[in-house]
Amino acid sequence: MKKVLVTGGAGFIGSNFIRYALKTFPDWFIVNLDKLTYAGNLENLQDVEEHPRYRFVRGDIADREMIRSLFQEEKFDVVINFAAETHVDRSILDPSPFLNTNVIGTQVLLEAARAYGVKRFVQISTDEVYGSIPEGRFTEISPVQPSSPYAASKAAADLLSLAYYKTYGLPVIITRSSNNYGPYQFPEKLIPLMIRNALQGKPLPVYGKGENIRDWICVEDNCRAIALVVERGRIGEIYNIGSGEERRNIEMVRYLCRILANRLNRPVEEFESLITFVKDRPGHDYRYALDSTKIQTELGWKPLMPLEEGLRRTVDWYLEHQDWLERVISGEYREYYSRVYERGWR
Ligand code: NAD
Ligand code: DAU
Repeated sequence: MKKVLVTGGAGFIGSNFIRYALKTFPDWFIVNLDKLTYAGNLENLQDVEEHPRYRFVRGDIADREMIRSLFQEEKFDVVINFAAETHVDRSILDPSPFLNTNVIGTQVLLEAARAYGVKRFVQISTDEVYGSIPEGRFTEISPVQPSSPYAASKAAADLLSLAYYKTYGLPVIITRSSNNYGPYQFPEKLIPLMIRNALQGKPLPVYGKGENIRDWICVEDNCRAIALVVERGRIGEIYNIGSGEERRNIEMVRYLCRILANRLNRPVEEFESLITFVKDRPGHDYRYALDSTKIQTELGWKPLMPLEEGLRRTVDWYLEHQDWLERVISGEYREYYSRVYERGWR
């Protein structure tokens, strides 16, 4: 049995990854370590909580003592570090938690991995470390030029991870993916926020003129790529993971309005009239675009979900899970956490 530590597994990508990995790898035992910040929600993993190859531990990746004793107890073969503060807007308001979790937390994990002989350390990073690119695409050797405190903290974590590989020979691999979409994304991010506001008849706040471009990847495609990297990626390497599906924000929002109008049998104007152009995000990166040739040629990965179909499925999921959206916003899911603990389960 392979002992795998997944940090941040109660969040958006981490929870999708755990569900995928439990199905795909019968020889993985997964320990999910999560601090359960506002973005971590154990309801995202309700369906696997009793799984015999799954254990949840509540804790902070920056807590050196706790991390050391967990590594000693579990003897991990693999670490996959998803845990992070992830929202750019929050990092602009207060960078401190980003430095603590994304930089110090990653270093604490790297140190424990070194001390306890972990065989693979996969650091989950982002295309945002490269900064903005007006044309062309970033490859893995493009320089890191982060714009936001969030992106700077992720770039710092990448550099530390590579330093642990070069200095101590720790078997580190980094993945850098583009914007993910899909189920269980906290509704502060563009897609679930727009869906929720549209359903409530609230304004759809588009930053600036809505001309910024993102490369959108379905979360299942990213999870498949990460799993391939864990299994077969080359040590010391970076892998970009992008779909090539580039869209302007305003196009995305208009498309979401069309899907909602279609699904709810209401006029599209009812939703489009909610679009409101608001003050731009400071330091807003204009365009992200990744060259993913390396993972395609080395590991045979390719994105499978076309964006329009993925967005239709995503809207359907949120329509079917409106109770989840409201609970996650109100913080009610925290009661679920207490109930689970009262049962003596962790
Ligand atoms: P998320 O915000 O949905 O989830 C983050 C999870 O980390 C939460 O469960 C939270 O409770 C946990 N966490 C935060 N601080 C912690 C700490 N100190 N100790 C333990 N757990 C902690 O994030 P996400 O969107 O799922 O992103 C996961 C990873 O993927 C992040 O590293 C992010 O930088 C990276 N990434 C995300 C995207 C995207 O589009 N969402 C794209 C590229 C890369
Ligand atoms: O590119 C990968 C990154 O994608 C991840 O590393 C981050 O963790 C993740 O949050 C995401 O960052 P973005 O800033 O690109 O995502 P966000 O959903 O916040 O915004 C997407 C685009 O939409 C961006 O150009 C800003 C714009 N936007 C966002 C919000 C929340 C709006 O116009 N209005 C909004 O209300």
